[in-house]
Amino acid sequence: MNGLLKFITCGSVDDGKSTLIGHMLYDAKLLFTDQEKALELDSKVGSREGMIDYSLLLDGLMAEREQGITIDVAYRYFTTEHRSFIVADTPGHEEYTRNMAVGASFADLAVILIDASQGILLQTKRHARICALMGIRYFVFAVNKMDLIHYEELQFRKIEKEIKKLAIDLDLQNVEVIPVSATEGDNVTLKSPNMPWYTKASLLEYLENINVEENEPERGFVMPVQRVCRPNHMFRGFQGEIASGAVSVGDVITVLPSRETAEVQKILYTDKSVQDAHKGQPVTIQLNREIDVSRGSVLVKNSTLIVSNMFTVSLLWMDDSELIQGKNFLLKVGTKTIPATVMSIKYKVDVHSGEHLAVKKLAKNEIAVCDIALADQVVYDTFQKNKEMGNFVLIDRVTNMTSACGVIEHSLRRSENLTWQKLDITREVRAQKLGQKPVTIWFTGLSGSGKSTLANELEKVLTLQGKHTMLLDGDNIRMGLNQDLGFDEKGRIENIRRIAEVAKLMNDAGLIVLTAFISPYESDREKAREIIGTENFMEVYVCTPLEVCEKRDVKGLYKKARDGKIPNFTGVSSPYEVPRNPSLVVDTSEVSIEQAVEAVMHKLDEFMV
Ligand code: ADX
Repeated sequence: MNGLLKFITCGSVDDGKSTLIGHMLYDAKLLFTDQEKALELDSKVGSREGMIDYSLLLDGLMAEREQGITIDVAYRYFTTEHRSFIVADTPGHEEYTRNMAVGASFADLAVILIDASQGILLQTKRHARICALMGIRYFVFAVNKMDLIHYEELQFRKIEKEIKKLAIDLDLQNVEVIPVSATEGDNVTLKSPNMPWYTKASLLEYLENINVEENEPERGFVMPVQRVCRPNHMFRGFQGEIASGAVSVGDVITVLPSRETAEVQKILYTDKSVQDAHKGQPVTIQLNREIDVSRGSVLVKNSTLIVSNMFTVSLLWMDDSELIQGKNFLLKVGTKTIPATVMSIKYKVDVHSGEHLAVKKLAKNEIAVCDIALADQVVYDTFQKNKEMGNFVLIDRVTNMTSACGVIEHSLRRSENLTWQKLDITREVRAQKLGQKPVTIWFTGLSGSGKSTLANELEKVLTLQGKHTMLLDGDNIRMGLNQDLGFDEKGRIENIRRIAEVAKLMNDAGLIVLTAFISPYESDREKAREIIGTENFMEVYVCTPLEVCEKRDVKGLYKKARDGKIPNFTGVSSPYEVPRNPSLVVDTSEVSIEQAVEAVMHKLDEFMV
């Protein structure tokens, strides 16, 4: 019996994916009698005029049957005499590319269907590219509907030639091309007498015998820590699934990213203590000494995992909104979730031609190579070397949706070669000298809402109290440090990132910092909070309504914006995202500046303790 094979089927709508798998189950006698009966009954009213419609078996969801298309990932488990299988049947429509990527990330092999009467389509290329991106190394192209082209060899060979070319373009290593008819059952489980010119295995025979584990590189022991288990003060164990290699009691292992070492004292598998454990097993490991290990740490031995905070990736963008350079996300790699920024989109890959195109934005379902920077050092590997530790997803910070998935191509040396220089005079020492707690008071709100006026007044009050302060104001900073930035989304993201870094440095110097920037995006303010540190970050939302700001129009900018003379003007032609969790909300159309200052001072007192 060969090992379990996880595969995915993809094809355009109507290529016959579900029919193919349905037929395989039926022919291989893998159905229960009642399923078989139900299928025969259903088929009587189905789309094949009473003949058995094998796709009905697979289209498990009612809605699919009604619409006649597959709308989710349907997983099927089946076992033949020679092998067990799990198949992910995924939708063909472009709008369901996300589901396809999910299915592909789980599979070792892809069966891509091609309609013999149509040949390779754009969808075929898209599917093959996404499967390759998600790490599938084995491909079967099933050229289906051979019955419709009268089992003609010539037409098949033509398509086969196109596939071979595609395989070279996409650098696919293991490619098999099989002519089949899913409805008639030719070359599905048994060799077809209708195509004597095809001498190789039927699809099922091929799937039963292919070895997807050959050529797997030897890798050392790697276990990403999922949980630190501490039921009482006597026991501290690290739990996770072994991603590669093996470990034995007595082995010296290294913890990444800290690079501390310790000896394995005990290994628990299920509820038993064992001497060794290997790839795929979930274990609890106890070490011989107390070292710093938390979720997201990785235990390794003889492994070449990388620790850095910047890498180049290939990704599939799956969000309805566009990806813009500089945008902030949460990135999940291994068991670690960490704030991350897409620094630059290096190029987009044209799905059709494979060409590299220079772009500033990415639309849904596009594939690109990007550079990503992380908030801290993480442990990972290149996808080429390690599938589990080399793939990642990007999560939208506001909606919590998965916005992209992809693979890590290589580390950016820059970050590996930088190490944080520890300084002897710390922020605490500097703050103590000034006799204050350094915090950043971050004012956000529309242009004309009163941020600058309020910050200005507040700084006077603080100065009178003997505090040491600095005020960073939008217009002023944009005339100096940030004079290279515009007001498009990318410019604003970078504007806020730099201000946050500057505010942090000033806090490090011991100062109380006041900032007055529109900062219209929630994810950027959240990133600022992270850079500056939650305990030092006081967000004040100046919520003066747009009508009031526009009426004030101190700088005459609203009028110009309404006249179409200023593009991307916040509140007029560019959005303002209301803060979800500000420390304080003030409306300068309802309270006087003095009252507003007092409210901020009051809140500040709470922060200072
Ligand atoms: S932010 O959006 O990037 O935070 P910031 O606070 O630095 O903006 O700058 C806003 C100031 O720039 C406004 O007060 C206004 O004087 C000026 N400005 C010029 N063009 C625009 C624009 N398109 N949108 C908003 N403000 C603009």
